[in-house]
Amino acid sequence: MSVRVAILISGGGSNMVALAKSMRDGHPARPCLVLSNNPSAGGLAAAREMGLPAEAADHRRFGADREAFEAELQRALDAHAPDLICLAGFMRIFTAGFASRWRGRMLNIHPSLLPKYPGLDTHARAIAAGDAEAGCTVHEVIPELDAGPILGQERVRVLPGDTPENLAARVLEREHVLYPKVLRRVAETMRASAQ
Ligand code: GRF
Repeated sequence: MSVRVAILISGGGSNMVALAKSMRDGHPARPCLVLSNNPSAGGLAAAREMGLPAEAADHRRFGADREAFEAELQRALDAHAPDLICLAGFMRIFTAGFASRWRGRMLNIHPSLLPKYPGLDTHARAIAAGDAEAGCTVHEVIPELDAGPILGQERVRVLPGDTPENLAARVLEREHVLYPKVLRRVAETMRASAQ
């Protein structure tokens, strides 16, 4: 019995593609849905090209009513019955209620070596601080932003003359290695505990 994984995106979905491509052959998990808050997210087209169910719940339809947006997300999720959610470039912040509902079953990838640099502009902040290293983190999602238990990290050196853009590109390459590795480990644990 495979672990059913819903992948939430907001943009290009390169992490979604890496995750979906990793869930093949003997992998304990399978992608069951790609869901975006942004109907024009490039990742939705990429998901469809891979033959995956791809849907959007446009957060702009709900204004400041986060609960109503999350209820729409939940309706889409319920139709595909995921065991696990992977946030992959998903740029909306959840209410404590939604994060608590999925606690222990929702992962996120963040482009910094947490607990350093939660939030945005992580690479510019690492460069400005003169850090020797940057990187990415996969963590469990809890109500506090970018603060859940860390499940894995990948590090890259910050090079002289690095711009946020080229540092981000190097980190993104490591994200595509880290996230599938952590997902496999989490899915194996979930499947073992379900037996
Ligand atoms: C990545 O840097 C990821 O760490 C952040 O969103 C960026 C874009 O991700 N959360 P993707 O290409 O849409 O997967």
